[in-house]
Amino acid sequence: MDLLISAKEIANRIAELAQEIGKDSGEQDLDFVVVLKGAIYFAADLSRALSTSGSNSVHLHFITAKSYDGVTQGEVKIEGQVQVKDKNVFIIEDILDSGNTLRKVIPYLKEQGASSVKLVCLLKKHDIPDIKIDYLGFQVPNHWVVGYGFDLDQKYRNLPDIRIYKETK
Ligand code: IMP
Ligand code: MG
Repeated sequence: MDLLISAKEIANRIAELAQEIGKDSGEQDLDFVVVLKGAIYFAADLSRALSTSGSNSVHLHFITAKSYDGVTQGEVKIEGQVQVKDKNVFIIEDILDSGNTLRKVIPYLKEQGASSVKLVCLLKKHDIPDIKIDYLGFQVPNHWVVGYGFDLDQKYRNLPDIRIYKETK
């Protein structure tokens, strides 16, 4: 599988994102809502990068959003309870593709009483007009990617680099 983004490039970009988020947030504690399973490595690395780049303490919350069976998209289902009332939350998401996942997750967190919701996304495949990414890792071409949390039918998540699985459309 062709290399798209190396582990080193991912780590460098995450260090930059941590600097930006830390700078914008002052010394306040941060509430990360991690969208499982894809964002697990991103959240682990970003939260630790924040501890080395500043004095933010990161509270971790987890939800699961499932929308794909293989590469075929179905209805998005959210599972998991989060205590985010009156919190300024950061959604930690792996990738923005159609936007369907975030169109469910963002209102869900607002319904749970979050006072603000910011979006941190490692990859973006397209511009989606109604979804604003506050902190983006990389813009990528419209291919199916695997590695660094990205799967195909639950495989390849643990590859350290991001690789192209196959072309879509
Ligand atoms: P969306 O709902 O279409 O925006 O897709 C977002 C979700 O689909 C992401 O959170 C991923 O879990 C999954 N996804 C989309 N594209 C890819 C990909 O290329 N590889 C692995 N997972 C993907
Ligand atoms: Mg996801």
